[in-house]
Amino acid sequence: MMVKNKIVFFTGAGVSAESGLATFRDSEDGLWNNYHIEDVCTPEAWERDKELVLEFYNFRRKQCQEVLPNLAHFKMAELDDYFEVIIITQNVDDLHERAGSKNMIHLHGELMKSRSILDDSLIYVQEKDINLGDFCEKGYQLRPHIVWFGESLDEKKINTAIEKVKECDVCVIVGTSLLVSPANMIPFYLRKSAKLIVIDPKDVKIDFIESDDYYHLKTTATDGMVQVFESLIKNINK
Ligand code: OAD
Repeated sequence: MMVKNKIVFFTGAGVSAESGLATFRDSEDGLWNNYHIEDVCTPEAWERDKELVLEFYNFRRKQCQEVLPNLAHFKMAELDDYFEVIIITQNVDDLHERAGSKNMIHLHGELMKSRSILDDSLIYVQEKDINLGDFCEKGYQLRPHIVWFGESLDEKKINTAIEKVKECDVCVIVGTSLLVSPANMIPFYLRKSAKLIVIDPKDVKIDFIESDDYYHLKTTATDGMVQVFESLIKNINK
């Protein structure tokens, strides 16, 4: 039986930029230029003003529903047919899934889900707004299923992500500034002999990752993914 090469995609907001979703730190339209993290994205913000926090995520959920996956998402999904692919994303949108990707780890949660403030394991599909007074089955308020600053990432997800990075043959990092920890430490576990490709129009600080085989495609996610797709298919099992 042919052994499929293992590919990890590690993605951030830049992969969804060409779909029309703003990144966090790019000038002008960056989300964090228009909102203060501490107002909308922390447990303290939730305690202070639940309505504002819900409004922020209701707005982002609607935006997400109005846009479509782009060619970068689709090319990654298509690679499922040829390789063992896993997508580790910091994004909370569902564009990878809508493009058809099957194996996903959402490190920072998911916009299209809500959960109970009583019990983290009570998680629901959430397509409409979350409002004050929307309760879980045990009668407690629903909140966005998002990891806020100051909260811990799901340890099981982190450990699986690290395992996948350790054993992969190719790691492609797409559209992330790698500025937010601990997610940004995950690519550190790449084997030195594995191929590392970064797709990002800007310089990304990756000097903490050791790789003998590193390329930076200084271009957009869609353009970069077309190139990566062709090169991976051409070199299949070489
Ligand atoms: P950032 O906004 O920090 O970085 C986005 C990256 O995408 C930058 O390096 C851009 O150069 C790049 N970029 C912009 N347009 C692009 C395009 N068309 N194609 C490819 N790359 C492009 O976003 P993240 O690194 O994803 O966390 O941010 C990480 C975390 O910070 C997010 O998950 C979020 C945020 O605070 C939480 O909310 C917990």
